[in-house]
Amino acid sequence: MNKLIFPKDFIWGSATASYQVEGAFDEDAKGESIWDRFSHTPGKVENGDTGDVACDHYHRYKEDIALMKEIGIDSYRLSISWSRILPEGKGEINQQGLDFYRNLIDELLKAGIKPAITIYHWDLPQALQDEGGWANRQTVKYFVDYAEILFNEFGDVVSQWITHNEPYVVAVHGHLTGSHAPGIKDPKVAMQVAHNILLSHGLTVKKYRELELDGEIGITLNLTSSYPNSNSQEDNEAAKRMEACINGWFLEPLFKGKYPEKLIELYGAKFNQLDIRAGDMDIIKEEIDFLGINYYSRSLVRHNEDSDFFKIEGVKPEDSKYTAMDWEIYPDGLYDLLIKVNREYTQKPLYITENGAAFDDEISEDGRVHDQERINYLKSHFQRAYKTIKEGVPLKGYYVWSLMDNFEWAYGYDKRFGIIYIDYNKDRKRILKDSAYWYQNVIANNTLDI
Ligand code: BGC
Repeated sequence: MNKLIFPKDFIWGSATASYQVEGAFDEDAKGESIWDRFSHTPGKVENGDTGDVACDHYHRYKEDIALMKEIGIDSYRLSISWSRILPEGKGEINQQGLDFYRNLIDELLKAGIKPAITIYHWDLPQALQDEGGWANRQTVKYFVDYAEILFNEFGDVVSQWITHNEPYVVAVHGHLTGSHAPGIKDPKVAMQVAHNILLSHGLTVKKYRELELDGEIGITLNLTSSYPNSNSQEDNEAAKRMEACINGWFLEPLFKGKYPEKLIELYGAKFNQLDIRAGDMDIIKEEIDFLGINYYSRSLVRHNEDSDFFKIEGVKPEDSKYTAMDWEIYPDGLYDLLIKVNREYTQKPLYITENGAAFDDEISEDGRVHDQERINYLKSHFQRAYKTIKEGVPLKGYYVWSLMDNFEWAYGYDKRFGIIYIDYNKDRKRILKDSAYWYQNVIANNTLDI
């Protein structure tokens, strides 16, 4: 057996997001969010599932933190629900919302677990959506105001901040395909939303610097590695287009202060109609302390003249293994991605802020959940992460998605990503899966046995 020993100060973590786990959707003066509205609209989420109760983490956070402690995680990545803090998205602050997060943070600190806070993980207050949501430039200002409240309130004890989670998904799923809240289907709106989110990110980083707090701030992107399905020139070009449409769209503005040429070319006239003002790109490029990367799978593509997605067609090799999301398991993609980001975009510290897999877990007769496939998935990805560290990539931590099974957006509760099983039929009982015990062992020894 080989033992891969991670750096001494490597952060082992796990992540969730407010709407996916909290529940208590209308308690303690919380306002309505776009995900409340979306999930309450028939036909939007599988099985009509909603986040009304979710994992009931809002009431059971102490029990959940005790489980985190048992597993041994160093850091918990959570997100804050904007509409708990500001029920209307702006204006009056809801003290009960602040109290909830204050208690949760205190409990984490007592357990010796470092909170890493995502300021926005997709649950915009509905009142702001009613004014145009992220497509309205005014939302940028409201976001910075909201972030400032969090910095003032928690900046003394929270030292790791993530402005946004996956702006790509907000733009594309929320405003192009419409499969996520707010369910808009308009390419131009999607591009504008991406720009406004990036702008709100830059201004928030500036605000954080102004406050001179003792901590780090960054952003989390969902990134992939794109590969051509053959050596043909056409497939190679398709892979480059894919790269520009997913990674480049965000990496280039953040680190180079411009949108990728290829993207501008692909979007054509629509791009020129966007509201991008003088100075915006400089703001977006504001220096961050780290980059958070969410990696799940690669993109293997070929050129297809008939595809209306920029003539790109996804390919799914038959001999590959897939998760319950039907995502190809491809750990080398993580290795290639980290190397590329470090080489071409930033030498700043990197964190894997999400990586994990959904499988059809079941409670077996012995009362345990034997999720060997998840262990294999995590093991192979940890191994690639380790390899990049050895090659000099400043990878500082790894957050497994997710701490527990939860509301998987448009898929509802069907897809289980947790290392803790939630028995939705039995009072949401928590059961540590085999992967949680396996992870406990990795963390305790700071070592991966392969
Ligand atoms: C999101 C999570 C989500 C996970 C699995 C990421 O896109 O940040 O909220 O549950 O992927 O789909």
